[in-house]
Amino acid sequence: MYLGIDIGTSAVKVVCADIDRILATSSVELKTSSPQSGWSEQHPDLWWQATREALHKIAAQIMLSEVKAIGLSGQMHGAVLLDRDLCPIRPAILWNDSRAIRECDELRAAQPQIGQIAGVPPLPGFTAPKIAWLKRNEPGSYARLAHILLPKDYIGLRLHGELATDTSDAAGTLWLNQALRNWDAGLAEATDVKPSWLPQVCDGHSVVGIVTAKAAAETGLKAGVSVVAGGGDAATGAVSLGATEPRRGFISLGTSGQLFVADQEYKPNPDRYVHAFAHTLPDRWYQMAAMLNGARPISWIGGQLGLSAAEVVALAETVTGDRVPIFLPYLTGERSPLGDPHIRACFFGLEDSTTRADICRSVLESIAFCFADAAQSFGDTMGTLSELAVIGGGSKSDLLLKLIATAIDKPLVRSEGAESGPAYGAARLAACGDGAVAIADLAFQPATTDGFEPAEMTALFERFARFRRLYAAIKDVN
Ligand code: XUL
Repeated sequence: MYLGIDIGTSAVKVVCADIDRILATSSVELKTSSPQSGWSEQHPDLWWQATREALHKIAAQIMLSEVKAIGLSGQMHGAVLLDRDLCPIRPAILWNDSRAIRECDELRAAQPQIGQIAGVPPLPGFTAPKIAWLKRNEPGSYARLAHILLPKDYIGLRLHGELATDTSDAAGTLWLNQALRNWDAGLAEATDVKPSWLPQVCDGHSVVGIVTAKAAAETGLKAGVSVVAGGGDAATGAVSLGATEPRRGFISLGTSGQLFVADQEYKPNPDRYVHAFAHTLPDRWYQMAAMLNGARPISWIGGQLGLSAAEVVALAETVTGDRVPIFLPYLTGERSPLGDPHIRACFFGLEDSTTRADICRSVLESIAFCFADAAQSFGDTMGTLSELAVIGGGSKSDLLLKLIATAIDKPLVRSEGAESGPAYGAARLAACGDGAVAIADLAFQPATTDGFEPAEMTALFERFARFRRLYAAIKDVN
Protein backbone atom coordinates (compact mmCIF):
# COMPACT_ATOMS: atom_id res chain seq x y z
CA MET A 1 0.00 0.00 0.00
CA TYR A 2 0.97 3.63 -0.66
CA LEU A 3 0.65 6.91 1.21
CA GLY A 4 -0.26 10.30 -0.20
CA ILE A 5 0.32 13.38 1.96
CA ASP A 6 -1.38 16.61 0.84
CA ILE A 7 -0.35 19.91 2.42
CA GLY A 8 -3.59 21.77 1.78
CA THR A 9 -4.45 25.27 2.95
CA SER A 10 -7.18 24.27 5.40
CA ALA A 11 -5.76 20.86 6.39
CA VAL A 12 -3.01 18.29 5.95
CA LYS A 13 -4.66 15.18 4.52
CA VAL A 14 -3.17 11.71 4.41
CA VAL A 15 -4.54 8.90 2.24
CA CYS A 16 -3.47 5.29 2.33
CA ALA A 17 -4.34 3.57 -0.94
CA ASP A 18 -3.86 0.48 -3.02
CA ILE A 19 -3.32 0.98 -6.72
CA ASP A 20 -7.01 1.50 -7.40
CA ARG A 21 -8.78 2.26 -4.12
CA ILE A 22 -8.54 4.26 -0.92
CA LEU A 23 -8.03 2.20 2.26
CA ALA A 24 -7.85 4.88 4.97
CA THR A 25 -7.73 8.66 5.38
CA SER A 26 -6.86 11.13 8.12
CA SER A 27 -6.62 14.89 8.34
CA VAL A 28 -5.48 17.65 10.68
CA GLU A 29 -6.73 21.23 10.34
CA LEU A 30 -4.48 24.17 9.54
CA LYS A 31 -5.08 27.85 10.24
CA THR A 32 -3.96 30.70 7.99
CA SER A 33 -2.85 34.02 9.39
CA SER A 34 -3.44 37.38 7.71
CA PRO A 35 -1.37 39.95 9.64
CA GLN A 36 -2.22 42.67 7.08
CA SER A 37 -4.93 43.10 4.42
CA GLY A 38 -4.08 40.89 1.45
CA TRP A 39 -1.49 38.84 3.37
CA SER A 40 -1.82 35.07 3.81
CA GLU A 41 0.79 33.07 5.71
CA GLN A 42 1.43 29.70 7.37
CA HIS A 43 4.58 28.60 9.16
CA PRO A 44 6.22 25.54 7.53
CA ASP A 45 6.85 24.02 10.96
CA LEU A 46 3.08 23.88 11.50
CA TRP A 47 2.76 21.83 8.29
CA TRP A 48 5.31 19.38 9.64
CA GLN A 49 3.57 19.18 13.02
CA ALA A 50 0.19 18.60 11.31
CA THR A 51 1.76 15.97 9.02
CA ARG A 52 3.10 14.09 12.03
CA GLU A 53 -0.31 14.23 13.72
CA ALA A 54 -2.11 13.08 10.56
CA LEU A 55 0.35 10.17 10.23
CA HIS A 56 -0.22 9.19 13.86
CA LYS A 57 -3.98 9.25 13.23
CA ILE A 58 -3.74 7.06 10.15
CA ALA A 59 -1.48 4.65 12.04
CA ALA A 60 -4.56 3.78 14.13
CA GLN A 61 -6.19 2.39 10.94
CA ILE A 62 -3.30 0.82 8.98
CA MET A 63 0.20 -0.58 9.59
CA LEU A 64 2.63 2.18 8.59
CA SER A 65 5.34 -0.49 8.34
CA GLU A 66 3.54 -1.90 5.28
CA VAL A 67 3.75 1.37 3.30
CA LYS A 68 5.88 0.75 0.20
CA ALA A 69 6.27 4.34 -1.01
CA ILE A 70 5.06 7.86 -0.24
CA GLY A 71 3.91 10.66 -2.56
CA LEU A 72 3.50 14.35 -1.78
CA SER A 73 0.97 16.94 -2.86
CA GLY A 74 0.46 20.51 -1.75
CA GLN A 75 -0.94 23.97 -2.15
CA MET A 76 0.97 25.57 -5.02
CA HIS A 77 2.90 28.86 -5.40
CA GLY A 78 3.76 29.37 -1.68
CA ALA A 79 7.25 30.74 -0.96
CA VAL A 80 9.04 28.63 1.65
CA LEU A 81 12.17 30.64 2.45
CA LEU A 82 15.09 28.77 4.03
CA ASP A 83 18.48 29.86 5.33
CA ARG A 84 21.69 27.96 4.69
CA ASP A 85 20.95 25.60 7.62
CA LEU A 86 17.62 24.69 5.91
CA CYS A 87 15.59 26.51 8.59
CA PRO A 88 12.53 28.63 7.66
CA ILE A 89 13.45 32.33 7.79
CA ARG A 90 9.84 33.49 8.25
CA PRO A 91 6.30 32.13 7.73
CA ALA A 92 5.64 30.94 4.17
CA ILE A 93 3.85 33.46 1.92
CA LEU A 94 0.91 31.59 0.38
CA TRP A 95 -0.82 31.31 -3.01
CA ASN A 96 -3.67 33.61 -1.99
CA ASP A 97 -1.41 36.41 -0.71
CA SER A 98 -1.63 39.62 -2.73
CA ARG A 99 1.09 41.84 -1.21
CA ALA A 100 3.44 41.72 -4.22
CA ILE A 101 1.32 43.80 -6.61
CA ARG A 102 4.01 46.41 -7.31
CA GLU A 103 6.62 43.71 -7.93
CA CYS A 104 4.30 42.08 -10.52
CA ASP A 105 3.99 45.36 -12.41
CA GLU A 106 7.79 45.67 -12.43
CA LEU A 107 8.26 42.08 -13.58
CA ARG A 108 5.75 42.50 -16.39
CA ALA A 109 7.57 45.65 -17.56
CA ALA A 110 11.00 43.99 -17.37
CA GLN A 111 9.90 40.72 -19.04
CA PRO A 112 7.04 41.47 -21.47
CA GLN A 113 7.14 37.91 -22.85
CA ILE A 114 6.88 36.25 -19.46
CA GLY A 115 3.34 34.92 -20.05
CA GLN A 116 4.51 32.95 -23.09
CA ILE A 117 7.52 31.43 -21.27
CA ALA A 118 6.12 30.90 -17.77
CA GLY A 119 2.58 30.03 -18.88
CA VAL A 120 0.77 32.89 -17.17
CA PRO A 121 1.37 36.63 -16.64
CA PRO A 122 2.66 37.81 -13.24
CA LEU A 123 0.14 37.93 -10.39
CA PRO A 124 1.02 38.33 -6.71
CA GLY A 125 0.01 34.79 -5.72
CA PHE A 126 2.85 33.24 -7.71
CA THR A 127 6.20 32.62 -6.04
CA ALA A 128 8.58 34.88 -8.00
CA PRO A 129 7.21 38.35 -7.17
CA LYS A 130 7.17 37.41 -3.47
CA ILE A 131 10.98 37.27 -3.48
CA ALA A 132 11.24 40.72 -5.07
CA TRP A 133 8.81 41.90 -2.35
CA LEU A 134 11.03 40.32 0.34
CA LYS A 135 14.12 42.05 -0.99
CA ARG A 136 12.38 45.45 -0.90
CA ASN A 137 10.48 45.06 2.38
CA GLU A 138 12.42 42.61 4.53
CA PRO A 139 16.06 43.02 3.47
CA GLY A 140 17.28 41.19 6.59
CA SER A 141 15.29 38.07 5.62
CA TYR A 142 16.36 38.37 1.98
CA ALA A 143 20.04 38.53 3.03
CA ARG A 144 19.69 35.15 4.80
CA LEU A 145 17.95 33.44 1.86
CA ALA A 146 19.76 30.32 0.63
CA HIS A 147 16.98 27.99 -0.60
CA ILE A 148 13.41 28.38 -1.89
CA LEU A 149 10.93 25.49 -1.79
CA LEU A 150 7.24 24.95 -2.49
CA PRO A 151 5.08 23.85 0.49
CA LYS A 152 5.01 20.08 -0.17
CA ASP A 153 8.76 20.10 -0.87
CA TYR A 154 9.42 21.36 2.65
CA ILE A 155 7.67 18.21 3.93
CA GLY A 156 9.83 16.25 1.48
CA LEU A 157 12.90 17.90 2.97
CA ARG A 158 11.79 16.92 6.48
CA LEU A 159 11.14 13.34 5.33
CA HIS A 160 14.22 12.64 3.19
CA GLY A 161 16.58 15.63 3.48
CA GLU A 162 16.74 16.50 -0.26
CA LEU A 163 15.96 19.82 -1.94
CA ALA A 164 13.70 18.80 -4.81
CA THR A 165 10.43 19.72 -6.49
CA ASP A 166 8.40 18.37 -9.41
CA THR A 167 7.53 19.96 -12.74
CA SER A 168 3.94 20.87 -11.80
CA ASP A 169 4.89 22.74 -8.62
CA ALA A 170 7.90 24.37 -10.34
CA ALA A 171 5.38 25.43 -13.00
CA GLY A 172 3.56 27.67 -10.54
CA THR A 173 6.57 29.79 -9.61
CA LEU A 174 6.94 31.96 -12.76
CA TRP A 175 10.57 30.77 -12.96
CA LEU A 176 9.89 27.67 -15.06
CA ASN A 177 10.24 27.58 -18.82
CA GLN A 178 7.07 25.51 -19.32
CA ALA A 179 8.01 24.24 -22.78
CA LEU A 180 11.51 23.08 -21.68
CA ARG A 181 10.31 22.01 -18.21
CA ASN A 182 13.27 23.54 -16.41
CA TRP A 183 14.25 26.77 -14.63
CA ASP A 184 14.69 29.89 -16.72
CA ALA A 185 17.76 31.74 -15.42
CA GLY A 186 16.54 35.06 -16.92
CA LEU A 187 13.23 34.92 -15.06
CA ALA A 188 15.01 33.99 -11.81
CA GLU A 189 17.41 36.94 -12.16
CA ALA A 190 14.52 39.30 -12.92
CA THR A 191 13.20 38.68 -9.41
CA ASP A 192 16.62 38.73 -7.69
CA VAL A 193 16.81 34.98 -7.30
CA LYS A 194 20.06 33.05 -7.69
CA PRO A 195 19.52 29.85 -9.70
CA SER A 196 21.39 27.96 -6.92
CA TRP A 197 18.52 28.78 -4.51
CA LEU A 198 16.09 26.71 -6.58
CA PRO A 199 15.63 22.95 -6.02
CA GLN A 200 16.20 20.27 -8.65
CA VAL A 201 13.13 19.64 -10.84
CA CYS A 202 11.97 15.99 -11.11
CA ASP A 203 9.01 14.14 -12.62
CA GLY A 204 6.23 13.57 -10.09
CA HIS A 205 6.71 9.80 -9.96
CA SER A 206 10.52 10.01 -9.53
CA VAL A 207 11.93 8.80 -6.24
CA VAL A 208 13.88 11.74 -4.78
CA GLY A 209 14.86 10.28 -1.43
CA ILE A 210 14.12 7.82 1.36
CA VAL A 211 12.65 8.39 4.81
CA THR A 212 15.56 9.16 7.15
CA ALA A 213 16.01 7.56 10.58
CA LYS A 214 15.23 10.95 12.20
CA ALA A 215 12.00 11.37 10.21
CA ALA A 216 11.05 7.77 10.98
CA ALA A 217 11.46 8.42 14.70
CA GLU A 218 9.31 11.56 14.46
CA THR A 219 6.50 10.10 12.32
CA GLY A 220 6.28 6.35 12.85
CA LEU A 221 7.07 5.76 9.16
CA LYS A 222 9.60 3.05 8.30
CA ALA A 223 13.12 4.38 7.63
CA GLY A 224 14.28 3.73 4.07
CA VAL A 225 10.83 3.96 2.41
CA SER A 226 10.95 5.76 -0.96
CA VAL A 227 9.43 9.22 -1.33
CA VAL A 228 8.47 10.40 -4.83
CA ALA A 229 8.42 14.09 -5.79
CA GLY A 230 4.60 14.20 -6.15
CA GLY A 231 2.90 17.32 -7.49
CA GLY A 232 1.11 20.60 -6.90
CA ASP A 233 -2.47 19.99 -5.77
CA ALA A 234 -3.92 20.73 -9.22
CA ALA A 235 -1.74 18.06 -10.84
CA THR A 236 -2.19 15.46 -8.10
CA GLY A 237 -5.95 16.09 -8.18
CA ALA A 238 -5.71 15.35 -11.91
CA VAL A 239 -3.78 12.11 -11.30
CA SER A 240 -6.46 11.00 -8.81
CA LEU A 241 -9.02 11.18 -11.63
CA GLY A 242 -6.92 9.95 -14.54
CA ALA A 243 -6.76 13.50 -15.98
CA THR A 244 -3.34 12.73 -17.41
CA GLU A 245 -4.53 12.23 -20.99
CA PRO A 246 -5.53 15.03 -23.40
CA ARG A 247 -9.13 16.32 -23.14
CA ARG A 248 -9.68 14.91 -19.67
CA GLY A 249 -10.82 17.62 -17.32
CA PHE A 250 -12.14 18.28 -13.87
CA ILE A 251 -13.33 20.90 -11.45
CA SER A 252 -11.85 21.24 -7.99
CA LEU A 253 -13.91 22.81 -5.22
CA GLY A 254 -11.54 23.34 -2.31
CA THR A 255 -10.31 26.51 -0.61
CA SER A 256 -9.44 27.50 -4.18
CA GLY A 257 -11.34 26.50 -7.31
CA GLN A 258 -9.84 25.05 -10.46
CA LEU A 259 -11.07 24.22 -13.93
CA PHE A 260 -8.41 21.90 -15.35
CA VAL A 261 -7.91 20.26 -18.75
CA ALA A 262 -4.95 17.98 -19.52
CA ASP A 263 -3.04 18.20 -22.81
CA GLN A 264 -0.03 16.73 -24.58
CA GLU A 265 1.13 20.15 -25.78
CA TYR A 266 2.09 23.41 -24.16
CA LYS A 267 -0.60 25.94 -25.15
CA PRO A 268 -0.15 29.32 -23.46
CA ASN A 269 -3.26 31.57 -23.27
CA PRO A 270 -1.96 34.38 -21.02
CA ASP A 271 -4.52 37.02 -22.02
CA ARG A 272 -7.32 35.44 -19.97
CA TYR A 273 -5.11 34.33 -17.09
CA VAL A 274 -5.60 30.69 -18.05
CA HIS A 275 -2.52 28.96 -16.62
CA ALA A 276 -0.64 26.75 -19.12
CA PHE A 277 1.54 24.63 -16.86
CA ALA A 278 3.75 21.53 -17.06
CA HIS A 279 1.94 18.49 -15.64
CA THR A 280 3.63 16.31 -13.08
CA LEU A 281 4.18 13.51 -15.65
CA PRO A 282 6.58 13.71 -18.62
CA ASP A 283 5.27 15.07 -21.97
CA ARG A 284 2.05 16.36 -20.44
CA TRP A 285 0.87 19.93 -19.81
CA TYR A 286 -2.45 21.35 -18.73
CA GLN A 287 -4.59 24.44 -18.94
CA MET A 288 -6.18 25.65 -15.74
CA ALA A 289 -8.36 28.52 -14.62
CA ALA A 290 -7.53 29.06 -10.95
CA MET A 291 -10.13 30.84 -8.83
CA LEU A 292 -8.75 32.15 -5.57
CA ASN A 293 -11.94 31.73 -3.57
CA GLY A 294 -13.19 28.32 -4.77
CA ALA A 295 -15.74 26.86 -2.35
CA ARG A 296 -14.26 28.83 0.56
CA PRO A 297 -17.12 31.41 0.61
CA ILE A 298 -19.41 28.61 1.89
CA SER A 299 -17.38 28.06 5.04
CA TRP A 300 -16.72 31.82 5.31
CA ILE A 301 -20.43 32.73 5.37
CA GLY A 302 -21.09 29.73 7.62
CA GLY A 303 -18.51 31.13 10.05
CA GLN A 304 -20.25 34.52 10.06
CA LEU A 305 -23.75 33.05 10.53
CA GLY A 306 -22.75 30.35 13.01
CA LEU A 307 -23.56 27.54 10.53
CA SER A 308 -21.60 24.55 9.30
CA ALA A 309 -20.92 24.27 5.55
CA ALA A 310 -23.62 21.56 5.35
CA GLU A 311 -26.13 23.90 7.04
CA VAL A 312 -25.30 26.72 4.61
CA VAL A 313 -26.03 24.38 1.69
CA ALA A 314 -29.24 23.07 3.32
CA LEU A 315 -30.51 26.63 3.85
CA ALA A 316 -29.62 27.58 0.26
CA GLU A 317 -31.72 24.64 -0.94
CA THR A 318 -34.85 26.10 0.66
CA VAL A 319 -34.82 29.17 -1.63
CA THR A 320 -35.99 29.26 -5.22
CA GLY A 321 -37.20 32.87 -5.52
CA ASP A 322 -35.73 35.42 -7.87
CA ARG A 323 -35.00 37.99 -5.15
CA VAL A 324 -31.72 36.37 -4.21
CA PRO A 325 -28.97 39.02 -3.89
CA ILE A 326 -25.81 38.96 -5.98
CA PHE A 327 -22.58 38.08 -4.20
CA LEU A 328 -19.13 38.76 -5.64
CA PRO A 329 -17.04 36.11 -3.84
CA TYR A 330 -13.64 37.77 -4.21
CA LEU A 331 -12.62 37.58 -0.54
CA THR A 332 -8.93 37.42 -1.49
CA GLY A 333 -9.06 39.07 -4.94
CA GLU A 334 -9.27 36.96 -8.08
CA ARG A 335 -6.81 35.26 -10.40
CA SER A 336 -8.54 33.60 -13.42
CA PRO A 337 -10.01 35.07 -15.51
CA LEU A 338 -9.92 38.59 -14.00
CA GLY A 339 -6.28 38.84 -12.87
CA ASP A 340 -7.44 41.32 -10.21
CA PRO A 341 -5.63 41.29 -6.86
CA HIS A 342 -7.39 44.53 -5.76
CA ILE A 343 -11.03 43.43 -5.91
CA ARG A 344 -12.79 42.33 -2.70
CA ALA A 345 -16.11 40.62 -2.04
CA CYS A 346 -19.51 42.33 -1.74
CA PHE A 347 -23.25 41.63 -1.55
CA PHE A 348 -25.57 43.62 -3.80
CA GLY A 349 -29.34 43.76 -3.85
CA LEU A 350 -30.00 43.19 -0.14
CA GLU A 351 -33.61 44.02 0.75
CA ASP A 352 -35.48 44.37 4.00
CA SER A 353 -36.94 40.94 3.23
CA THR A 354 -33.58 39.25 2.49
CA THR A 355 -33.12 36.16 4.65
CA ARG A 356 -30.14 34.09 5.74
CA ALA A 357 -31.29 31.48 3.24
CA ASP A 358 -31.21 34.05 0.39
CA ILE A 359 -27.68 35.03 1.41
CA CYS A 360 -26.55 31.39 1.49
CA ARG A 361 -28.10 30.80 -1.94
CA SER A 362 -26.35 33.86 -3.37
CA VAL A 363 -23.02 32.58 -2.04
CA LEU A 364 -23.51 29.19 -3.76
CA GLU A 365 -24.57 30.85 -7.00
CA SER A 366 -21.50 33.10 -6.99
CA ILE A 367 -19.25 30.02 -7.04
CA ALA A 368 -21.10 28.73 -10.12
CA PHE A 369 -20.75 32.16 -11.77
CA CYS A 370 -16.97 32.12 -11.27
CA PHE A 371 -16.82 28.74 -13.04
CA ALA A 372 -18.99 30.08 -15.86
CA ASP A 373 -16.54 32.98 -16.30
CA ALA A 374 -13.64 30.51 -16.21
CA ALA A 375 -15.25 28.18 -18.77
CA GLN A 376 -15.68 31.09 -21.18
CA SER A 377 -11.99 31.97 -20.86
CA PHE A 378 -11.12 28.46 -22.15
CA GLY A 379 -12.80 29.24 -25.51
CA ASP A 380 -13.08 26.29 -27.90
CA THR A 381 -11.39 23.85 -25.49
CA MET A 382 -14.63 23.47 -23.53
CA GLY A 383 -16.39 22.12 -26.62
CA THR A 384 -13.91 19.20 -26.77
CA LEU A 385 -14.91 17.91 -23.31
CA SER A 386 -17.84 15.56 -22.90
CA GLU A 387 -18.07 15.96 -19.12
CA LEU A 388 -16.02 17.10 -16.13
CA ALA A 389 -15.24 15.22 -12.93
CA VAL A 390 -15.46 17.06 -9.59
CA ILE A 391 -13.24 16.83 -6.51
CA GLY A 392 -12.77 18.70 -3.24
CA GLY A 393 -14.91 19.40 -0.18
CA GLY A 394 -17.42 21.51 -2.17
CA SER A 395 -18.21 18.48 -4.34
CA LYS A 396 -20.38 17.14 -1.48
CA SER A 397 -23.16 19.64 -2.33
CA ASP A 398 -25.63 18.42 -4.96
CA LEU A 399 -27.06 21.93 -5.30
CA LEU A 400 -23.63 23.46 -5.99
CA LEU A 401 -22.88 20.83 -8.64
CA LYS A 402 -26.30 21.41 -10.27
CA LEU A 403 -25.66 25.17 -10.36
CA ILE A 404 -22.16 24.75 -11.83
CA ALA A 405 -23.27 22.17 -14.44
CA THR A 406 -25.99 24.61 -15.53
CA ALA A 407 -23.77 27.70 -15.47
CA ILE A 408 -21.02 26.07 -17.57
CA ASP A 409 -23.46 23.97 -19.63
CA LYS A 410 -21.51 20.75 -19.10
CA PRO A 411 -22.41 17.52 -17.28
CA LEU A 412 -20.47 16.94 -14.05
CA VAL A 413 -19.67 13.54 -12.54
CA ARG A 414 -18.75 12.73 -8.96
CA SER A 415 -16.34 9.80 -8.49
CA GLU A 416 -15.34 7.56 -5.62
CA GLY A 417 -12.82 9.25 -3.32
CA ALA A 418 -13.72 12.72 -4.70
CA GLU A 419 -13.03 14.42 -1.38
CA SER A 420 -9.51 13.00 -1.06
CA GLY A 421 -8.44 13.97 -4.62
CA PRO A 422 -4.90 15.39 -4.37
CA ALA A 423 -3.74 13.09 -1.55
CA TYR A 424 -5.01 10.07 -3.48
CA GLY A 425 -3.25 11.34 -6.62
CA ALA A 426 -0.01 11.59 -4.64
CA ALA A 427 -0.44 7.97 -3.45
CA ARG A 428 -0.91 6.91 -7.09
CA LEU A 429 2.33 8.68 -8.05
CA ALA A 430 4.05 6.77 -5.23
CA ALA A 431 2.72 3.47 -6.65
CA CYS A 432 4.10 4.45 -10.05
CA GLY A 433 7.50 5.40 -8.58
CA ASP A 434 7.58 2.04 -6.82
CA GLY A 435 7.04 0.30 -10.17
CA ALA A 436 3.63 -1.15 -9.25
CA VAL A 437 1.95 0.70 -12.15
CA ALA A 438 3.21 2.26 -15.38
CA ILE A 439 2.75 5.96 -16.18
CA ALA A 440 0.10 5.04 -18.76
CA ASP A 441 -1.89 3.24 -16.03
CA LEU A 442 -2.29 6.54 -14.17
CA ALA A 443 -4.97 7.39 -16.76
CA PHE A 444 -7.23 4.95 -14.88
CA GLN A 445 -10.48 6.72 -13.89
CA PRO A 446 -12.21 5.86 -10.61
CA ALA A 447 -15.83 4.66 -10.75
CA THR A 448 -18.44 7.39 -11.03
CA THR A 449 -21.00 7.53 -8.22
CA ASP A 450 -23.43 10.13 -9.60
CA GLY A 451 -23.84 12.81 -12.27
CA PHE A 452 -25.38 16.26 -12.71
CA GLU A 453 -26.82 17.54 -16.00
CA PRO A 454 -27.25 21.22 -16.92
CA ALA A 455 -30.81 22.30 -16.03
CA GLU A 456 -33.28 24.91 -17.35
CA MET A 457 -32.71 27.92 -15.05
CA THR A 458 -33.39 31.16 -16.91
CA ALA A 459 -33.36 33.26 -13.73
CA LEU A 460 -29.85 31.96 -12.94
CA PHE A 461 -28.50 33.30 -16.23
CA GLU A 462 -30.16 36.64 -15.62
CA ARG A 463 -28.38 36.84 -12.27
CA PHE A 464 -25.11 35.81 -13.94
CA ALA A 465 -25.44 38.77 -16.33
CA ARG A 466 -25.99 41.05 -13.30
CA PHE A 467 -23.02 39.44 -11.52
CA ARG A 468 -20.79 40.45 -14.43
CA ARG A 469 -22.20 43.95 -14.65
CA LEU A 470 -21.69 44.36 -10.92
CA TYR A 471 -18.00 43.44 -11.15
CA ALA A 472 -17.52 45.80 -14.11
CA ALA A 473 -19.22 48.58 -12.15
CA ILE A 474 -17.27 48.25 -8.89
CA LYS A 475 -13.85 46.98 -9.95
CA ASP A 476 -12.26 50.40 -9.69
CA VAL A 477 -13.74 51.15 -6.25
CA ASN A 478 -10.92 50.41 -3.86
C1 XUL B 1 -3.61 26.83 -8.13
C2 XUL B 1 -3.78 27.46 -6.80
C3 XUL B 1 -4.44 26.72 -5.72
C4 XUL B 1 -3.47 26.34 -4.67
C5 XUL B 1 -4.14 25.96 -3.37
O1 XUL B 1 -3.05 27.68 -9.06
O2 XUL B 1 -3.36 28.55 -6.55
O3 XUL B 1 -5.08 25.63 -6.21
O4 XUL B 1 -2.68 25.31 -5.16
O5 XUL B 1 -4.99 24.93 -3.47
